[in-house]
Amino acid sequence: MTSATATEVNVPLLDLKAQYAALRAEIEPVVREVMESQYFIGGPKVEELEKATASYCRAKHAIGCANGSDAIVLALQALDIGPGDEVVIPTFTFFATAGSVHRLGARPVFVDVDPVTYNICPRSVEQAFGCHKKIKAVMPVHLFGQSADMDAIMGIAKAHGLKVVEDCAQAIGTEDVHGRRVGTIGDVGTYSFFPSKNLGGFGDGGIVVTGHDGLAARLKRLRNHGMEPKYFHHEIGMNSRLDALQAAVLSIKLRHLDAWSAARQRNAAWYDRFLTDAGATDSRTPVDAGGLPIRFPAAAPKGARHIYNQYVVRVPAAIRDKVRDELAARKIGTEIYYPLSLHQQKCFEFLGYRTGVFPHSERAAGEVIAVPIYPELAPRQLQHVGESLVEIVRKLA
Ligand SMILES: Cc1ncc(COP(=O)(O)O)c(C=O)c1O
Repeated sequence: MTSATATEVNVPLLDLKAQYAALRAEIEPVVREVMESQYFIGGPKVEELEKATASYCRAKHAIGCANGSDAIVLALQALDIGPGDEVVIPTFTFFATAGSVHRLGARPVFVDVDPVTYNICPRSVEQAFGCHKKIKAVMPVHLFGQSADMDAIMGIAKAHGLKVVEDCAQAIGTEDVHGRRVGTIGDVGTYSFFPSKNLGGFGDGGIVVTGHDGLAARLKRLRNHGMEPKYFHHEIGMNSRLDALQAAVLSIKLRHLDAWSAARQRNAAWYDRFLTDAGATDSRTPVDAGGLPIRFPAAAPKGARHIYNQYVVRVPAAIRDKVRDELAARKIGTEIYYPLSLHQQKCFEFLGYRTGVFPHSERAAGEVIAVPIYPELAPRQLQHVGESLVEIVRKLA
């Protein structure tokens, strides 16, 4: 691999144009097919995607819907979560995990994350029962494409009689330490087809998976105003249908998903090696514990499958934003997932959490930075990101 200079290589955080260029010949005919059919909502293309996704996720049922946020609302509603109920969720995640709980009139109960994986901390879940008496469900999020500790979560759920919704928005094809596909371990799994996900549509989309026949039937009704048959409404659901154009595109893309995940894993392994050689260590060591202050993601445990929706490194909070600016000056795209934990968000002030209560999440929010990991990255682009990151951190730290 040859060294690249700062000016010659442009590395966006994600390059969907490169993906589209490779798939154009496959995608354009199916889009035309939908346009010729003028069948836009539901129908055979949606059913085909639901079948293929269920099989890919090794789930009995998959029910398409409008986006990953609605997928969570539908899952919680199908499990009878509503006003007066509490749902335990990690505070370090995308907003939708918590917003969906609130939309049903239930109360999010935030807990801290594990500082190494950024996934929900089982001990913190246990502690939540000390002051919350109405917890009905727990919602692990498989953040950045890595499985949460599902053995521990399922153990807690069993002991307390909780429902389990897995937020798999960032984790399609992810497996836990036993090789179980996420989304099939709890009661319901929810996915997003937002364009930046590993399987992304040409717009919004989502899907819910479950192994329970009764829940699947209810989810199908709920996504369509609780209606069955036409104009007879069993309960109040919503309009959250998946459209045929999205389904047609996603069915084509699904065929490539394993190859893309493998390419993301190769890119992650390249960064791991490069950063190790430069003197960095993985996220098991705090960033202020010595050596080059870059922490790359610790390897997934044996047996697990990490699909690297994001490759998130940590640098000292004092220089994080400056590192990002300097990477941008070298035409390297980055993002901060997430700069503020949910218990500290203005809209959740009414829940009464203080800053300082979830130290691992709060610290991660100050130190994390996601760098490009998408499958189409060329070797010289990886080299440019790796070299730039190391050079910039060495200079600023
Ligand atoms: C963890 C998590 N949950 C839920 C969602 C919501 O998905 P959508 O954007 O499709 O509504 C996202 C998407 O960004 C996510 O990352």
